[in-house]
Amino acid sequence: MASDLAQILIRGGKKEVRETVTYAIREIVRNIIEHSESEDFTVSAQYYPYKGLVEIAIMDRGKGIRRGLSSNPHLSISSDYEAILKALVLGISGSFYRGMPEEKKTEWSNSGFGLFMTIQICRMGGRFTIGSAGSLITMTKSQKQHVPFGISGTFIVMQMRVSELPRLIGLLRMLAARGERLAKLVKVEADVEASYASKFIMEAG
Ligand SMILES: Nc1ncnc2c1ncn2[C@@H]1O[C@H](COP(=O)(O)OP(=O)(O)OP(=O)(O)O)[C@@H](O)[C@H]1O
Ligand SMILES: [Mg+2]
Repeated sequence: MASDLAQILIRGGKKEVRETVTYAIREIVRNIIEHSESEDFTVSAQYYPYKGLVEIAIMDRGKGIRRGLSSNPHLSISSDYEAILKALVLGISGSFYRGMPEEKKTEWSNSGFGLFMTIQICRMGGRFTIGSAGSLITMTKSQKQHVPFGISGTFIVMQMRVSELPRLIGLLRMLAARGERLAKLVKVEADVEASYASKFIMEAG
């Protein structure tokens, strides 16, 4: 489904751009299926060739990010804003954490990678917006904005600048290396302060 949508969106575009867009869509849809408990979701997508921008909005009416993270006992979360910021940090997951039940561990175990990677792809010349319950956060390469919001579930808009998207493999490796370096520095294995989460995301890409 993700690659079909990317194919329709970027007609005739470069294979590596389609692969990157496919990756980003797949991560967001996988999150809905794995974490949201939503029965369905909505996707709206546009490609603006003259602007060189792809824009994909995906919304579910599930439990929202804060409740999604609530199964991780290491996290202390006092607002929707804080929950969203923490969910974006590499290594933070509601389904994978130190001391999690053994029977839940599989080779597919979540590692808290998806949102971090996706946001970094979008910040390369584009914009990532994520809203859940009472908060909406928008991030570009250099700016972060936060406004009050009000939907149940999770709303994500990915704006990607096609010309800035290098080959998927190289890009993902680079992000993983940077992310891992940062993750080692901060030991994101339990919890982080919201201000730290913000810094972590904005300085990664
Ligand atoms: N649509 C959603 N609804 C509810 N909670 C969500 C949703 N998307 C993400 N989350 C929460 O945010 C956390 C972080 O998401 P992220 O994609 O970064 O990691 P993950 O899905 O746990 O692991 P990975 O993506 O590496 O498999 C999730 O574990 C979940 O708790
Ligand atoms: Mg995920």
